[in-house]
Order: sequence, then C-alpha cells, then structure tokens
Amino acid sequence: MMHAMTRRQRGAAAIGLACAMAMFAGVPATAHAATAGGSPAGAGDPYFPLAGNQGYDVAHYDLDLDFTPATHVLNGQATISAEAKKDLTRFNLDYSGPAISRITVDGRDATYSQDGQELTVVPAKRLKSGHDFTVKVWYGGVPVTIDDPTLGIYGWIYTDDGAVGLNEPDGARNWYPVNDDIGDKATYTFRITTPNGVNALANGEQQGPPCVNGDRTTVTWNERKPMSSYLSMVAIGKFDVTNGRIGNLANVTAVDPTSDGDGAVLQSTTAEAIAWEQQKFGRYPFDSAGGIVDKSGVEYALETQGRPVYDGMPDTDTIVHENAHQWFGDAVTPKTWRDIWLNEGFATYVEWMWDEEHGGPTAQSVFDKYYAKPAGDKFWKLKTGDPGRDEIFSGSAVYYRGAMTLHQLRTTMGDRDFFTLLRTWTEKYRYRNVETKDLLDLAQSISHKNLKPLFDAWLYTEGKPAIP
Ligand code: TRP
Ligand code: ZN
Repeated sequence: MMHAMTRRQRGAAAIGLACAMAMFAGVPATAHAATAGGSPAGAGDPYFPLAGNQGYDVAHYDLDLDFTPATHVLNGQATISAEAKKDLTRFNLDYSGPAISRITVDGRDATYSQDGQELTVVPAKRLKSGHDFTVKVWYGGVPVTIDDPTLGIYGWIYTDDGAVGLNEPDGARNWYPVNDDIGDKATYTFRITTPNGVNALANGEQQGPPCVNGDRTTVTWNERKPMSSYLSMVAIGKFDVTNGRIGNLANVTAVDPTSDGDGAVLQSTTAEAIAWEQQKFGRYPFDSAGGIVDKSGVEYALETQGRPVYDGMPDTDTIVHENAHQWFGDAVTPKTWRDIWLNEGFATYVEWMWDEEHGGPTAQSVFDKYYAKPAGDKFWKLKTGDPGRDEIFSGSAVYYRGAMTLHQLRTTMGDRDFFTLLRTWTEKYRYRNVETKDLLDLAQSISHKNLKPLFDAWLYTEGKPAIP
C-alpha cells in the first residue's frame, strides 16, 4: 500500500507541468459565423423531444472544468469522442450552458449556431458513417440553474461553498455539451480545477492525488462503466471524505461539514445497504460506491452513478433507495423517460423489501395500506407506465403504484421466480437500456405465466386495478 502511494505521488509531481498545461492557457477567442440549423434534433423521447440527437454515438466525454465558488464562473473544455452513424455534414449537441468561444472537430475549427438547447455544429469536413470523430468545445461564464415548475431545481446548482451538477432528467446540457439521449451511455473523465482547499468529487474513481498548480488544484475522476448523462455528477466545495470498503469495493463518502451529515453513519449505512443489495441483486455494477451529503437545496436525493448525492443527511430508507437505483436505473436504464417507473417503482419496492427484512412492516402490509385508497382517489388517476412529462416524479403513480405493480408481480409469480427475475433483469441488461416490454417478456419466460393482463391493469389503465 505505502509503496504504491509513494509511486503515485512521485508520478503526480513529475506530471505537474503537464497538468498545468492541460488548463485554460491559450484558448483563442475566435469569431464564428452562425450557420442555419435544420438537422434533426432530438433522439425521439416522447417526454423530452429535444433531448439527444441522431446520427452519432458518444463513446467518451472528457470534461475539463474550472470552477471558482466566489464568482460562480465555470470555464469548460469538453472533448467528446463519438462515432458517426451516418454521413454527417452537420450534427447537433444539447447545450444551454455558458457562452461558447470555440469548437473544433478532429482538430479543425468548426462553425456552429445555437437555437434554444440545440447546438448545431458544422465540421470543416464531412464526417463519414462508421468513422470516429472528436469534438472539442471551449466555453465559460456563469451557468443559470434550471428551475422547472414541475421537475424542480436541477442542472448546475450553487451551494454556499461550491456547486453540484445534478441532471435528472435533462440537466447535463446546463454545464456541458452533451448527446442528452438516455440511451447513449458513455464513459467519462472529469478533470476539475478549483481554488486550493476546495474539494471536487465526481462519478467513478479518483485518479491519483490532486495536482496543485499555484493557487489552484486539479483532481481527476474516471467513470469507466457506461453512464447515461442524467447520472453524471460533480460536487465541488468543502467536504470531509471517508475512504472505506464494502468487501473489495471502494466506498467513498463525503459530507459537507456545515450540513447535518454524519460521515460515519453515511459510510456504514451505505456499506450495509449495498452489502444486502448485492446479496439480493448480484454484484454491485460499478467500480466504486459511496455517497455525498451537501446542502444543495434541491429537496431530493439523486442516484448519481456509483455515488448518490443527498440534500442533507438521508435516512436509511433513502440510502437503500438511492443505492437500489445503482442496479435499477443506473446499470439497467430505461430507453425513454416514459418508463421511469422501471427506476422509481423498483427502488421504492427495494425499500419495502429492506423494511420487511429489518423489523419493519411487510411489503404486503405496505401494499395493503395504499390499496385501501378508494377507487375515486386521485392516487389511481395516472398511468404508471405513461405518467406524462410533468409527472415523472409522481409519488403516487410512479413510486408507489410502481412498487405495487412489482408486489403484484411477486404474488403472481411466487417469491422464487420473482427474485430470479430481479437477478436476471440486472444481469441480462446491465449497462444497457430497456423498456417495460423487456420486463414483461422476461417475467413471462421465467414464470411461464401470461402476465400481460397484470401489466395492462397496473401500468396502462387509469383507475384502481382489481386483484384477481
Ligand atoms: N430520482 C430521484 C429519486 O427518487 C428523485 C428526483 C430527482 C426528484 N429529481 C426530482 C424528485 C425532482 C422530485 C423532483 O431517487
Ligand atoms: Zn428514486
């Protein structure tokens, strides 16, 4: 251990200069003629039609982010490695962050224009179908946090001593240019520079010790497993960091010292929840785990990949919920936002399962409590499998009725088949995108039962379903 640490530290000192050179020196301020748009924007999501783009696949985002808490200025350099899926004379990215000063494609200056969240890039040379290309975008300024009347506060969020990037559902564009298609998973590098003494965390694993250059510090995090953009995260500010383990898995927890967070409890409850979930759902899908307590003010927790972010110290059920999402939502991700119940119904049901095995009420009794609501109650109004754009976080329709759907599936299939379904689902579709039909097909093939009527009644029909 010591030996490895010493080697890494020496390595970091030797690359100190390279680290400095990767920063923002010499970004040319080039003027660009705007180009008319017209390429197809949007990847076809029914609720977020502008999100994502067609014609290419992103493999990796390399994000150089320089943030100053005192001024809120974020300077970024995003390097996006992608493959063209057809011949492209132009392509779109989603972007609504600070002003862009330059874009290159494969090292050559490109022209570009912006219209709402659509950033249209016209490379100097046509991109050929099947070929890889690299887009670099330089930008800087003060991001304007997204505050949506129904989806809440998300995107780039300022805290007392820093900022946090929380993107669900379509907030990544608030702080970096992105193909914001929930189905276009990619790996990420975050290279975050802050004033000395300010920490920066992100998804994945920290690469070596922080690199100090004058009065600024740069730390690099790598997410090596495929990640949907809505799960990408950075957290900047003062944090007390605990490096623990869950078996062989690193457990990196961090607490804002001015919050009500208890670092020891966050570390141990996270470990306990994940150890239990690994027994139920199979091995943890990412290369490290953890959690971050900040004072974001968003009033929700988010299942950011490998390391959820909590707004204040969470209770045990919330830790169980956000870590359940690592299997249900993060590793196995819906193809479109219409299927959000595949995230929230599962994570809520895992809470019920946890409570049942830890001295709380049985899942059946929680089900019964909600099922007691009269047929006329607005609880039953929305379709769980198609709640609508403004209701993707609906407690009743998506979280509770979603969990109730799974409980009905469990009682219909029987415990043995149901738990086989959960394990097979996470294993078969790990790092991929799914739709409800995939769950139905798998459940039917495991149970040899016709489950279509159950899915139709619980997910796609308004009103209180009858129990056969
Ligand atoms: N996905 C989060 C969770 O349940 C919740 C969430 C994200 C949310 N954004 C929100 C809830 C906005 C309400 C409003 O783990
Ligand atoms: Zn959730």
